[in-house]
Amino acid sequence: MNKRPHIPVLLNEVIQSLHIKKGGIYVDGTFGAGGYTQAILDAEPTVRVIAIDRDETAIAAGQDLVKKYAPRLTLLNGQFGDMEKLVSEQVDGVVLDIGVSSMQIDRPERGFSFQKDGPLDMRMGQSGQTAADIVNSFDEEQLADIIYQYGEERFSRKIAKAITQARQIKPFETTMELANVIHKVMPHKAGDIDSATRTFQALRIFVNDELGELERGLKGAEKILKNDGILSVVTFHSLEDRIVKNFLQNATAPNQHINKYKPTTEQQNTPFKLAFKKPLSASEDEIKKNPRSRSAHLRSAIRQRQVK
Ligand SMILES: C[S@@+](CC[C@H](N)C(=O)[O-])C[C@H]1O[C@@H](n2cnc3c(N)ncnc32)[C@H](O)[C@@H]1O
Repeated sequence: MNKRPHIPVLLNEVIQSLHIKKGGIYVDGTFGAGGYTQAILDAEPTVRVIAIDRDETAIAAGQDLVKKYAPRLTLLNGQFGDMEKLVSEQVDGVVLDIGVSSMQIDRPERGFSFQKDGPLDMRMGQSGQTAADIVNSFDEEQLADIIYQYGEERFSRKIAKAITQARQIKPFETTMELANVIHKVMPHKAGDIDSATRTFQALRIFVNDELGELERGLKGAEKILKNDGILSVVTFHSLEDRIVKNFLQNATAPNQHINKYKPTTEQQNTPFKLAFKKPLSASEDEIKKNPRSRSAHLRSAIRQRQVK
Protein backbone atom coordinates (compact mmCIF):
# COMPACT_ATOMS: atom_id res chain seq x y z
CA MET A 1 0.00 0.00 0.00
CA ASN A 2 1.28 3.43 -0.93
CA LYS A 3 1.32 5.48 2.26
CA ARG A 4 2.66 8.66 0.65
CA PRO A 5 0.30 11.57 1.15
CA HIS A 6 0.98 12.92 -2.34
CA ILE A 7 0.68 10.61 -5.35
CA PRO A 8 3.30 11.62 -7.93
CA VAL A 9 1.76 12.41 -11.31
CA LEU A 10 3.11 10.92 -14.59
CA LEU A 11 5.88 9.32 -12.55
CA ASN A 12 6.95 6.67 -15.09
CA GLU A 13 6.84 9.12 -17.97
CA VAL A 14 8.93 11.66 -16.03
CA ILE A 15 11.56 9.10 -15.05
CA GLN A 16 11.76 7.74 -18.60
CA SER A 17 12.08 11.26 -20.01
CA LEU A 18 15.14 11.91 -17.83
CA HIS A 19 17.18 9.01 -19.31
CA ILE A 20 18.95 8.67 -15.97
CA LYS A 21 22.70 8.25 -16.35
CA LYS A 22 25.18 6.41 -14.12
CA GLY A 23 26.81 8.94 -11.79
CA GLY A 24 24.40 11.65 -12.94
CA ILE A 25 23.31 14.68 -10.92
CA TYR A 26 19.63 15.62 -11.02
CA VAL A 27 17.72 18.64 -9.70
CA ASP A 28 14.17 18.12 -8.46
CA GLY A 29 12.95 21.72 -8.19
CA THR A 30 9.66 20.78 -6.53
CA PHE A 31 10.49 18.14 -3.92
CA GLY A 32 7.00 17.96 -2.31
CA ALA A 33 6.70 14.49 -0.79
CA GLY A 34 9.78 13.37 -2.68
CA GLY A 35 7.99 11.07 -5.15
CA TYR A 36 10.14 12.01 -8.15
CA THR A 37 13.30 12.34 -6.07
CA GLN A 38 12.96 8.81 -4.70
CA ALA A 39 12.22 7.34 -8.10
CA ILE A 40 15.36 9.01 -9.54
CA LEU A 41 17.52 7.76 -6.64
CA ASP A 42 16.04 4.26 -6.94
CA ALA A 43 16.51 4.14 -10.71
CA GLU A 44 20.29 4.18 -10.50
CA PRO A 45 22.37 3.68 -7.31
CA THR A 46 25.15 6.03 -8.41
CA VAL A 47 23.08 9.19 -9.03
CA ARG A 48 22.76 12.21 -6.77
CA VAL A 49 19.70 14.45 -6.39
CA ILE A 50 19.62 18.07 -5.32
CA ALA A 51 16.01 18.74 -4.36
CA ILE A 52 14.46 22.13 -3.68
CA ASP A 53 11.19 23.15 -2.05
CA ARG A 54 10.06 26.58 -0.91
CA ASP A 55 7.92 25.01 1.83
CA GLU A 56 9.93 24.34 4.97
CA THR A 57 7.41 21.73 6.14
CA ALA A 58 8.21 19.69 2.99
CA ILE A 59 11.92 20.02 3.74
CA ALA A 60 11.42 18.95 7.37
CA ALA A 61 9.34 15.93 6.31
CA GLY A 62 12.02 14.98 3.77
CA GLN A 63 14.80 14.57 6.34
CA ASP A 64 14.06 10.83 6.65
CA LEU A 65 14.78 10.45 2.93
CA VAL A 66 18.01 12.43 3.30
CA LYS A 67 19.13 9.85 5.90
CA LYS A 68 17.86 6.89 3.91
CA TYR A 69 19.78 7.89 0.77
CA ALA A 70 22.82 9.54 2.45
CA PRO A 71 24.95 10.97 0.95
CA ARG A 72 23.08 11.03 -2.35
CA LEU A 73 20.25 13.45 -1.53
CA THR A 74 20.68 17.14 -0.75
CA LEU A 75 17.51 18.99 0.28
CA LEU A 76 17.39 22.76 -0.03
CA ASN A 77 14.75 25.17 1.26
CA GLY A 78 14.37 27.78 -1.47
CA GLN A 79 12.69 28.66 -4.73
CA PHE A 80 13.46 26.91 -7.98
CA GLY A 81 13.43 30.35 -9.63
CA ASP A 82 16.79 30.82 -7.87
CA MET A 83 18.14 27.50 -9.15
CA GLU A 84 21.21 29.03 -10.67
CA LYS A 85 22.26 30.44 -7.29
CA LEU A 86 21.20 27.38 -5.28
CA VAL A 87 22.92 24.79 -7.46
CA SER A 88 26.60 25.42 -7.97
CA GLU A 89 27.35 22.56 -10.37
CA GLN A 90 26.29 21.59 -13.88
CA VAL A 91 23.66 18.85 -13.86
CA ASP A 92 22.29 16.06 -16.06
CA GLY A 93 18.61 16.74 -15.53
CA VAL A 94 16.11 19.18 -14.04
CA VAL A 95 12.54 18.22 -13.22
CA LEU A 96 9.71 20.53 -12.17
CA ASP A 97 6.25 19.45 -11.03
CA ILE A 98 4.40 22.73 -10.86
CA GLY A 99 1.75 23.70 -8.34
CA VAL A 100 0.74 22.70 -4.85
CA SER A 101 1.08 19.32 -3.19
CA SER A 102 -1.79 17.31 -1.72
CA MET A 103 -0.28 17.97 1.73
CA GLN A 104 -0.63 21.71 1.18
CA ILE A 105 -4.17 21.55 -0.25
CA ASP A 106 -5.42 19.09 2.35
CA ARG A 107 -4.27 21.03 5.40
CA PRO A 108 -6.89 23.69 6.19
CA GLU A 109 -4.34 25.72 8.16
CA ARG A 110 -2.43 26.41 4.91
CA GLY A 111 -5.45 28.29 3.59
CA PHE A 112 -5.65 26.86 0.05
CA SER A 113 -9.00 25.12 0.40
CA PHE A 114 -12.49 26.55 0.26
CA GLN A 115 -13.92 23.22 1.29
CA LYS A 116 -12.45 23.35 4.78
CA ASP A 117 -12.17 26.53 6.81
CA GLY A 118 -8.74 27.90 7.58
CA PRO A 119 -6.81 31.17 7.66
CA LEU A 120 -6.79 32.85 4.22
CA ASP A 121 -3.06 32.27 3.69
CA MET A 122 -2.16 30.32 0.48
CA ARG A 123 1.60 30.82 0.79
CA MET A 124 3.57 27.75 -0.25
CA GLY A 125 6.56 29.17 1.58
CA GLN A 126 6.59 30.87 4.93
CA SER A 127 7.18 34.49 3.85
CA GLY A 128 5.51 37.24 1.85
CA GLN A 129 1.96 38.53 1.59
CA THR A 130 -0.93 36.20 2.36
CA ALA A 131 -4.12 35.95 0.29
CA ALA A 132 -5.88 37.82 3.14
CA ASP A 133 -3.37 40.70 2.84
CA ILE A 134 -4.23 40.94 -0.85
CA VAL A 135 -8.03 40.75 -0.69
CA ASN A 136 -8.06 43.22 2.21
CA SER A 137 -5.77 45.84 0.66
CA PHE A 138 -5.76 45.77 -3.16
CA ASP A 139 -8.24 48.04 -4.92
CA GLU A 140 -11.21 46.68 -6.82
CA GLU A 141 -9.59 47.02 -10.24
CA GLN A 142 -6.36 45.31 -9.16
CA LEU A 143 -8.36 42.44 -7.67
CA ALA A 144 -10.46 42.10 -10.82
CA ASP A 145 -7.29 41.98 -12.93
CA ILE A 146 -5.73 39.26 -10.76
CA ILE A 147 -8.90 37.16 -10.80
CA TYR A 148 -9.24 37.58 -14.56
CA GLN A 149 -5.60 37.05 -15.48
CA TYR A 150 -4.71 34.15 -13.20
CA GLY A 151 -8.15 32.57 -12.75
CA GLU A 152 -9.43 33.17 -16.27
CA GLU A 153 -12.67 34.11 -14.51
CA ARG A 154 -15.21 35.88 -16.73
CA PHE A 155 -17.02 37.36 -13.73
CA SER A 156 -13.87 38.85 -12.19
CA ARG A 157 -15.36 42.36 -11.89
CA LYS A 158 -18.47 41.16 -10.12
CA ILE A 159 -16.39 39.13 -7.66
CA ALA A 160 -13.89 41.96 -7.04
CA LYS A 161 -16.79 44.31 -6.29
CA ALA A 162 -18.34 41.85 -3.84
CA ILE A 163 -14.97 41.42 -2.11
CA THR A 164 -14.35 45.14 -1.66
CA GLN A 165 -17.89 45.66 -0.37
CA ALA A 166 -17.70 42.78 2.11
CA ARG A 167 -14.34 43.86 3.54
CA GLN A 168 -15.79 47.24 4.53
CA ILE A 169 -17.96 45.43 7.03
CA LYS A 170 -15.21 43.07 8.20
CA PRO A 171 -11.76 42.28 6.75
CA PHE A 172 -11.38 38.73 5.43
CA GLU A 173 -9.65 36.29 7.72
CA THR A 174 -10.68 32.83 6.58
CA THR A 175 -11.08 30.81 3.38
CA MET A 176 -14.78 30.21 4.09
CA GLU A 177 -15.48 33.92 4.47
CA LEU A 178 -14.10 34.51 0.99
CA ALA A 179 -15.83 31.46 -0.51
CA ASN A 180 -19.18 32.55 0.99
CA VAL A 181 -18.93 36.02 -0.56
CA ILE A 182 -18.19 34.48 -3.98
CA HIS A 183 -21.00 31.93 -3.62
CA LYS A 184 -23.46 34.73 -2.80
CA VAL A 185 -22.80 36.63 -6.05
CA MET A 186 -22.14 33.51 -8.14
CA PRO A 187 -24.22 30.60 -6.97
CA HIS A 188 -23.41 27.26 -8.62
CA LYS A 189 -25.63 24.23 -9.10
CA ALA A 190 -24.90 20.97 -7.31
CA GLY A 191 -22.52 18.93 -9.48
CA ASP A 192 -21.07 22.02 -11.19
CA ILE A 193 -17.54 23.19 -10.51
CA ASP A 194 -17.52 25.36 -7.36
CA SER A 195 -17.83 29.03 -8.34
CA ALA A 196 -14.96 29.96 -5.97
CA THR A 197 -12.48 27.66 -7.77
CA ARG A 198 -11.12 30.18 -10.27
CA THR A 199 -10.78 33.00 -7.75
CA PHE A 200 -8.90 30.73 -5.34
CA GLN A 201 -6.62 29.57 -8.16
CA ALA A 202 -5.95 33.19 -9.15
CA LEU A 203 -5.04 34.26 -5.63
CA ARG A 204 -2.80 31.23 -5.12
CA ILE A 205 -0.90 31.93 -8.34
CA PHE A 206 -0.54 35.61 -7.46
CA VAL A 207 0.46 35.08 -3.80
CA ASN A 208 3.24 32.69 -4.85
CA ASP A 209 4.18 34.47 -8.10
CA GLU A 210 3.92 31.02 -9.64
CA LEU A 211 4.17 32.10 -13.26
CA GLY A 212 7.17 34.37 -12.60
CA GLU A 213 8.85 31.51 -10.72
CA LEU A 214 8.23 29.17 -13.64
CA GLU A 215 9.81 31.59 -16.10
CA ARG A 216 12.84 32.08 -13.85
CA GLY A 217 13.09 28.34 -13.22
CA LEU A 218 13.18 27.52 -16.94
CA LYS A 219 15.91 30.09 -17.54
CA GLY A 220 17.83 28.77 -14.54
CA ALA A 221 17.57 25.21 -15.85
CA GLU A 222 19.01 26.31 -19.19
CA LYS A 223 22.01 27.74 -17.31
CA ILE A 224 22.77 24.74 -15.11
CA LEU A 225 22.13 21.88 -17.53
CA LYS A 226 25.12 20.14 -19.12
CA ASN A 227 25.07 19.44 -22.84
CA ASP A 228 22.63 16.54 -23.35
CA GLY A 229 21.05 17.30 -19.97
CA ILE A 230 17.27 16.93 -19.83
CA LEU A 231 14.61 19.39 -18.75
CA SER A 232 11.22 17.82 -17.89
CA VAL A 233 8.30 19.89 -16.68
CA VAL A 234 4.84 18.81 -15.52
CA THR A 235 2.13 21.49 -15.53
CA PHE A 236 -1.50 21.42 -14.46
CA HIS A 237 -3.24 24.25 -16.26
CA SER A 238 -3.07 26.16 -19.47
CA LEU A 239 -1.42 29.28 -17.99
CA GLU A 240 1.56 27.20 -16.85
CA ASP A 241 1.70 24.99 -19.91
CA ARG A 242 1.70 28.05 -22.19
CA ILE A 243 4.81 29.40 -20.44
CA VAL A 244 6.68 26.11 -20.88
CA LYS A 245 5.51 25.77 -24.48
CA ASN A 246 6.59 29.32 -25.38
CA PHE A 247 9.92 28.94 -23.63
CA LEU A 248 10.65 25.73 -25.52
CA GLN A 249 9.40 27.20 -28.79
CA ASN A 250 11.91 30.05 -28.45
CA ALA A 251 14.67 27.80 -27.18
CA THR A 252 14.29 25.41 -30.10
CA ALA A 253 13.63 27.95 -32.86
CA PRO A 254 16.35 28.16 -35.50
CA ASN A 255 18.53 31.22 -35.15
CA GLN A 256 16.91 34.26 -36.75
CA HIS A 257 20.22 35.87 -37.68
CA ILE A 258 21.38 33.34 -40.18
CA ASN A 259 24.97 33.73 -41.26
CA LYS A 260 25.17 32.63 -44.86
CA TYR A 261 28.86 31.78 -44.53
CA LYS A 262 28.25 29.20 -41.79
CA PRO A 263 26.96 25.69 -42.49
CA THR A 264 23.26 25.05 -41.71
CA THR A 265 23.94 22.69 -38.81
CA GLU A 266 25.67 25.50 -36.94
CA GLN A 267 23.04 28.06 -37.86
CA GLN A 268 20.38 25.87 -36.32
CA ASN A 269 22.15 25.45 -33.02
CA THR A 270 19.60 26.22 -30.36
CA PRO A 271 19.79 25.86 -26.56
CA PHE A 272 17.37 22.93 -26.57
CA LYS A 273 15.86 20.33 -28.82
CA LEU A 274 12.46 18.85 -28.05
CA ALA A 275 12.42 15.30 -26.69
CA PHE A 276 8.90 14.88 -28.11
CA LYS A 277 6.64 17.31 -29.89
CA LYS A 278 3.26 17.01 -28.20
CA PRO A 279 3.03 17.09 -24.40
CA LEU A 280 2.33 13.74 -22.71
CA SER A 281 -0.84 13.33 -20.64
CA ALA A 282 -1.89 10.79 -18.04
CA SER A 283 -3.42 7.48 -19.13
CA GLU A 284 -7.07 6.66 -18.37
CA ASP A 285 -5.77 4.22 -15.79
CA GLU A 286 -3.71 6.87 -13.97
CA ILE A 287 -6.61 9.35 -14.08
CA LYS A 288 -8.88 6.73 -12.50
CA LYS A 289 -6.39 6.14 -9.68
CA ASN A 290 -5.43 9.79 -9.27
CA PRO A 291 -7.94 12.35 -10.61
CA ARG A 292 -5.40 15.15 -10.00
CA SER A 293 -3.47 13.81 -13.01
CA ARG A 294 -6.36 14.59 -15.39
CA SER A 295 -5.01 17.99 -16.41
CA ALA A 296 -1.28 17.17 -16.24
CA HIS A 297 1.03 17.78 -19.20
CA LEU A 298 4.65 16.70 -19.44
CA ARG A 299 7.03 18.52 -21.78
CA SER A 300 10.65 17.56 -22.10
CA ALA A 301 13.67 18.91 -23.96
CA ILE A 302 17.37 18.15 -24.32
CA ARG A 303 20.02 20.80 -23.75
CA GLN A 304 22.42 20.96 -26.65
CA ARG A 305 25.77 22.46 -27.33
CA GLN A 306 25.64 25.79 -29.11
CA VAL A 307 28.47 26.51 -31.48
CA LYS A 308 29.01 30.22 -31.77
C1 LIG B 1 3.09 19.21 -7.01
S1 LIG B 1 4.13 19.25 -5.62
C2 LIG B 1 5.50 18.23 -6.08
C3 LIG B 1 5.30 16.79 -5.75
C4 LIG B 1 6.52 15.92 -6.01
N1 LIG B 1 6.85 15.83 -7.41
C5 LIG B 1 6.29 14.53 -5.45
O1 LIG B 1 6.31 13.57 -6.24
O2 LIG B 1 6.11 14.38 -4.24
C6 LIG B 1 4.84 20.83 -5.71
C7 LIG B 1 5.83 21.16 -4.62
O3 LIG B 1 6.66 22.19 -5.13
C8 LIG B 1 6.80 23.22 -4.23
N2 LIG B 1 6.97 24.44 -5.00
C9 LIG B 1 6.07 25.06 -5.77
N3 LIG B 1 6.60 26.14 -6.34
C10 LIG B 1 7.90 26.18 -5.95
C11 LIG B 1 8.99 27.06 -6.22
N4 LIG B 1 8.84 28.11 -7.01
N5 LIG B 1 10.17 26.78 -5.68
C12 LIG B 1 10.35 25.69 -4.86
N6 LIG B 1 9.34 24.85 -4.55
C13 LIG B 1 8.13 25.09 -5.08
C14 LIG B 1 5.55 23.21 -3.39
O4 LIG B 1 5.83 23.75 -2.12
C15 LIG B 1 5.21 21.73 -3.36
O5 LIG B 1 5.78 21.11 -2.23
